[in-house]
Amino acid sequence: MDVEAAHLEELRVARRLDDPRRVMPVVPAGCRRVLDIGCGAGQTLIGADVDGGVMACGVDRDVAALQLGRRITDRVRFVCALGESLPFRSESFDFVISRVALPYMHVPAALTEIRRVLVPGGRLWLVLHPCAMVLHELMGALRARRAKSALGRLWVLGNGVTLHCFGRIFRIPFTRARWESFQTPRGMRRALRAGFDETEISRGRFFVVTARRSA
Ligand SMILES: C[S@@+](CC[C@H](N)C(=O)[O-])C[C@H]1O[C@@H](n2cnc3c(N)ncnc32)[C@H](O)[C@@H]1O
Repeated sequence: MDVEAAHLEELRVARRLDDPRRVMPVVPAGCRRVLDIGCGAGQTLIGADVDGGVMACGVDRDVAALQLGRRITDRVRFVCALGESLPFRSESFDFVISRVALPYMHVPAALTEIRRVLVPGGRLWLVLHPCAMVLHELMGALRARRAKSALGRLWVLGNGVTLHCFGRIFRIPFTRARWESFQTPRGMRRALRAGFDETEISRGRFFVVTARRSA
C-alpha cells in the first residue's frame, strides 16, 4: 500500500466509530489548541472530531501527506516539521497527541520538544509500538526471506532495548536523521519522569500513554 492510500485507510478507520482498529484521544475540557505530531493527513484530528472552537495543528515530515490533508480538511493547520524540532513557541499548546508516530522519532528529543510546547498542566496522548509488534514483523520478514527488512527489524529491536535500558536510541544506518524503536511501559515512565506527571499507561489492544506536563 502506498503512503497516500495508507493515510486514507487510516482516515476511514478514524471515521468508523465501531472499527476495532480505531483509537482516539479525548480532547480535554477547556482545550483551545491541540497539536498532532506525525499527523499524516490529519486523520486523528479529523476522527477525534475536535470542536470547531479549538485550533487544530498537525505537523509531519512528509510533504505529500500534508498536501493530502489540506485537500481533505480546512479545519487543520498543517505544518511541515520534525517532531524533534517543533517550529512553535514554548507553551503554545494545551494538548499534544501523537498516534503511532513517536516510534519513528528520536524519542527523547521529541519528548523534550513536546514538553516545551505544552503549557504547564497541558496533556499528552501517545499511541506507541510494543515489542511484540516488531517481533511479529521480524518473523514475517524472515519467513518471506526478506533479508534487508529482517535486518531493519533487528535494528528496531536493538533500539527498543537500548531505549528501555538506557533511554538512548541510535540513528538508522545510512540515513541522515531517521530513527525507529519499540517502546516499553517502564522505558516510557522513565522518559516522562523529566517534566511530566500523572503518567498512565494502557496495554489493551493499543499501547496508549497519557501524561500531564508538570509545572
Ligand atoms: C504510521 S504514520 C501515523 C500517521 C497518523 N498519526 C496516524 O495515526 O494514522 C507515522 C507518521 O509519522 C511521520 N513521521 C515520522 N517521523 C517523523 C518525524 N521525525 N517528525 C515528524 N513526523 C514524522 C511520518 O511521515 C508519518 O506520517
